[in-house]
Amino acid sequence: MTITAPEPLSAGPAPLGETQAPVKLWLCPNDALPPAIAADLASHWLDEREHKTAARFLFERDRRQYLVAHTLVRRALALEAGLAEAELVIWRSSRGRPFLQPLPGGLPRGGDHLDFNLSHAGGYSLLGIVRRHRIGVDVEGLGRDAQALQTILTTFTPEEQQWVAGAARGRERDRRVLRLWTLKEAYSKARGLGLGLPFDEFCFTLADDRGVLAFRPPADDPAGRWRFLELEPVPDVLAAVAVPADEHGAPLLELHHGFPWSRATPHTIALPEPVGATHG
Ligand SMILES: CC(C)(COP(=O)(O)OP(=O)(O)OC[C@H]1O[C@@H](n2cnc3c(N)ncnc32)[C@H](O)[C@@H]1OP(=O)(O)O)[C@@H](O)C(=O)NCCC(=O)NCCS
Repeated sequence: MTITAPEPLSAGPAPLGETQAPVKLWLCPNDALPPAIAADLASHWLDEREHKTAARFLFERDRRQYLVAHTLVRRALALEAGLAEAELVIWRSSRGRPFLQPLPGGLPRGGDHLDFNLSHAGGYSLLGIVRRHRIGVDVEGLGRDAQALQTILTTFTPEEQQWVAGAARGRERDRRVLRLWTLKEAYSKARGLGLGLPFDEFCFTLADDRGVLAFRPPADDPAGRWRFLELEPVPDVLAAVAVPADEHGAPLLELHHGFPWSRATPHTIALPEPVGATHG
């Protein structure tokens, strides 16, 4: 795996207490799970709703992506929470955001609250897990067609559109569009709003190579300040993570690659300094 990310801190997990638990991020290529194994795990682990969704895909490629993503979610949450994969109850908000149902006595492992968010695209699944606050993640492959990128661009703020126009046409410009898009999706997914939040109501100022320099949140943002991480964990695969910059959780992220068969040693990455504004 090539990791082009901000400063790796160490190769091993940091010795942190529960209240300082780092963000966990899993990047799983579809190739990490052979189709027959994914289907077998899914048959045991997924719930009725997931089985129905999987059955509806017209193309086998899309079904495979879905099965890898959803077995990844159940396996990683099971490890994190200390529950069996099939026992996890996942419910969805009215806007479609999945949540792990809390247990009355708390989780066997990991306190009483876990939040997670999933993205799957272009042969990759990206899963973020945090304790005690919210997370949003997004993964996109470079190589979207020009018309799709042009449509995406029209949803941005005038400042963001201007920044994109400052890059040479082609890969450099496409990269700028997709960097903004993954960050915007990660932010609105952390808030549970998905595409229900107009993307021109909040604005990112990005460094030319990587990193968020400034963030203007939408007026209704209850947190105001956020940590955003941009990653290119594999060449031409862009990922973004958004977590509120509150007192919960250490500003560290553990990046795991592949399917979580076991507790492999992750790469530890420092999350960038918070950006944004405090309302009120
Ligand atoms: C969330 C959304 C932005 C995903 O965009 P995408 O780039 O196509 O897909 P991604 O792969 O990045 O993310 C998909 C995953 O995000 C998660 N998700 C779905 N809705 C979400 C939301 N509102 N907030 C956060 N995460 C959400 C799900 O896990 C979903 O995967 P799954 O359906 O296989 O479980 C988009 O689907 C959306 O806006 N959905 C909400 C639609 C809506 O508002 N419906 C209202 C019904 S009244």
